[in-house]
Amino acid sequence: MRRKVVAGNWKMNMNLSGTIELISAIKNELNKSDSKTEVIVCPPFTSLETAVTVLKGTSIKVGAQNMHYESDGAFTGEISADMLKSVGCEYVILGHSERRTIFGETDDIINMKVKKALSSGLKPIFCVGETLEERESNLTEKVVESQVKNGLSGISEHELSDLIIAYEPVWAIGTGKTASPEQAQEVHKFIRNLISKLYSDNLSENLVIQYGGSVKPDNAVELFSQPDIDGGLIGGASLKTDSFVSIVNS
Ligand code: 13P
Repeated sequence: MRRKVVAGNWKMNMNLSGTIELISAIKNELNKSDSKTEVIVCPPFTSLETAVTVLKGTSIKVGAQNMHYESDGAFTGEISADMLKSVGCEYVILGHSERRTIFGETDDIINMKVKKALSSGLKPIFCVGETLEERESNLTEKVVESQVKNGLSGISEHELSDLIIAYEPVWAIGTGKTASPEQAQEVHKFIRNLISKLYSDNLSENLVIQYGGSVKPDNAVELFSQPDIDGGLIGGASLKTDSFVSIVNS
């Protein structure tokens, strides 16, 4: 059985005191739960070290939302993999659609970041997903296939055992429009088959593929019960203790 993983992508929300408050509350609530789901919180860079400290001794992991592909140097405003490791980060979200569309990250840039994260011992949550226009033009599989192939280009099967893929249809992110469980399952199955063709059945069967895009307590159970959906990458609903914990318990 594959493990289930629920990650909260806080995006550009929460200062330091907000982080301490939210993470402490999540920690307390999850303490009472017997859920076996792996939980990751991804606050902004400025809160990472504090998040790690507050979560010490728990099984909740901390992830960053982005990083640069170079080790160090003259890249004003950027954060390296080593910096993330040094504050105790275990995961990093890469290729999020907001990075692709607002900040112009291409498949090549994302590929360099995925390689750097893996070689630095960080576990990437690698995001893919089509826009509404692409879905309406029946291009979903083509787009997702090229994002997966390009994003993972030149990476060996062995290195990929630590990677999570997040399927996030762009039209479902922050819009309140969720993909139906059937729509999401179809793409998850497509990604799993693609990984099996590109690598092996073994990797494909063990690969965690999360769904992201307007996951809420009232749709999480149905989404997560699909055979190829192994948990979620949660935006808005990860900023409130009740909704995040309820999604984890789904
Ligand atoms: P929402 O859950 O707010 O739609 O965001 C999804 C997302 O982008 C997670 O990375």
